[in-house]
Amino acid sequence: MSHYVKDVLIPRAEIAKVVDDLARRISDDYAGQEIVMVGVLKGSFIFLADLVRKITVPVVIDFMSVSSYYGGTKSSGVVKIIKDMDTDIQGKHVIIVEDIIDSGLTLNHLKDLLLTREPASLRVCAAFDKPERRKISISADYLGMPIPDEFIIGYGLDFDGQYRNLPDVCILAIDGGNE
Ligand code: IMP
Ligand code: MG
Repeated sequence: MSHYVKDVLIPRAEIAKVVDDLARRISDDYAGQEIVMVGVLKGSFIFLADLVRKITVPVVIDFMSVSSYYGGTKSSGVVKIIKDMDTDIQGKHVIIVEDIIDSGLTLNHLKDLLLTREPASLRVCAAFDKPERRKISISADYLGMPIPDEFIIGYGLDFDGQYRNLPDVCILAIDGGNE
C-alpha cells in the first residue's frame, strides 16, 4: 500500500485568514478575561501556535494527549489520558483546541472529563470539521472550516506520523493496490 500527497485542499494563505478571524472572535468574546487554551496533541500544535499569537487577551497555554478506544467491536468510547495538562482549570475559562473533529467521540469524552474539573466555562475551537462523519451531536464553538469527507494531512495533521509539517492542508491518496 502506498500513499502520496494528492491535491492542496486549503492553501496556507486561506488558513491564515481563517486563523486571523478565529483569533479576533475569541479576543472579542473574552475581552477583560484570561483564557486557558488546551491543545490536544499532537495534531493541534501548529494551529494553536498560530492562533495564540493573534489573540490579544491573556492566555495560558497547556497541552493534553489522549487516545480513544472506540469503533470496531469496542463500544466503550473511553478516552485514555496519555498526558494530562499541568494547569488547574477550576474556575477558569477554558478553550479546547483541536485539529479536526471527525466522529466527535474524542472531543465529547474530553469535554466531559474537563467539565468534572469545574471550569468557569468550557468551549471548543477546531481548525477543521468533517460534519458528515459525526457519530455524536457535538460542534465547535469556534470553527475554522468545514471540509468534505476526505483524509487530510498537513498543518499539524498526520498520516502514520508523517506530513504534519506541510504548510498547506492537502488530501492524502492511498493506493490499496498490489504493491
Ligand atoms: P474523532 O472526532 O474522535 O473521530 O477523532 C478526531 C481525531 O482523529 C483528530 O483529532 C485527528 O487526530 C484524527 N483525524 C480525523 N480525521 C483526520 C484526517 O482527515 N486527517 C488526519 N487526522 C484525522
Ligand atoms: Mg487529534
